[in-house]
Amino acid sequence: MQIVRSIAELRAVRKAWHAEGKIIGFVPTMGALHAGHLSLVEAAKAQSDKVMVSIFVNPTQFNDPKDLESYPRTEATDLEKLKPLDVDLVYMPDADEMYAAGFATKVQVEGLADCLCGATRPGHFDGVATVVTKLFLQSGADKAFFGEKDYQQLQVIRRLVADLNIDIDVIGCPIMREQDGLAMSSRNVRLSDEARAIAPALHNIMEKCILDVQAGKSIDEAIVEAKLRLAEAGFGQVDYFEFRDNADLVLLDILDRPARLFAAVFLDNVRLIDNLEVQ
Ligand code: PAJ
Repeated sequence: MQIVRSIAELRAVRKAWHAEGKIIGFVPTMGALHAGHLSLVEAAKAQSDKVMVSIFVNPTQFNDPKDLESYPRTEATDLEKLKPLDVDLVYMPDADEMYAAGFATKVQVEGLADCLCGATRPGHFDGVATVVTKLFLQSGADKAFFGEKDYQQLQVIRRLVADLNIDIDVIGCPIMREQDGLAMSSRNVRLSDEARAIAPALHNIMEKCILDVQAGKSIDEAIVEAKLRLAEAGFGQVDYFEFRDNADLVLLDILDRPARLFAAVFLDNVRLIDNLEVQ
């Protein structure tokens, strides 16, 4: 497993692989790897000849400096987790390599990035869109693998790839969950034991809300009840709990098209996000 820290080295490897006719699969991450990330690596391995994983905690997508500071950094164990999966290359640039002096360009996706997490985390998706564009151009990969855990991020990236004519296939992969239903996340390690016991209720309350709407309850009423259940279970502030169009993320008040329920809720000081497709 090759470890590369500079753009120049990464380009040299990519050119050599493409000269051999290899299809390159790419999994961008911010490290603190868990089984959700590793499922993307497995998908990349199954659909590519060579697999690159990037680990870069991107400062420009953190709107809260405390969140950036406390984001888990576990480089050594991350590499231990990737080794048995036969990853070909791990790209770990530092912030100066990614954002050289004088850096002044921003990729901004309008519309899709303004709702949900974009509404409560100003600038977050500009940071994501910019770094992902850079990672795509740096890696020259043929396919990129993203989790549906961050469904809005996936749609934003699909949009920028189409709009900027980047020659890469974006592949969405299902959410990996703990046995009790909690969506895996690098931030889950910040939950206290008490909060960790409450956390899976988010998934259950979302499932119940979808069933209620499918059984004929209005979306408005089902959401009011779901929010009451969240408060009773011990959750704090609800950033959003909304049904939206599965593709363009337009807000829905009736289920008349392919839809998804999106939630972002605080538990202690940890912000949990989840989404479920309406089947
Ligand atoms: P990070 O949060 O590390 O996530 C990296 C990838 O893992 C994303 O595509 C995310 O959706 C996926 N992922 C996280 N938890 C998952 C789960 N439980 N099941 C399936 N996939 C999961 O997302 C980012 O990093 C950054 O924004 C990044 C795209 C790397 C840009 O900095």
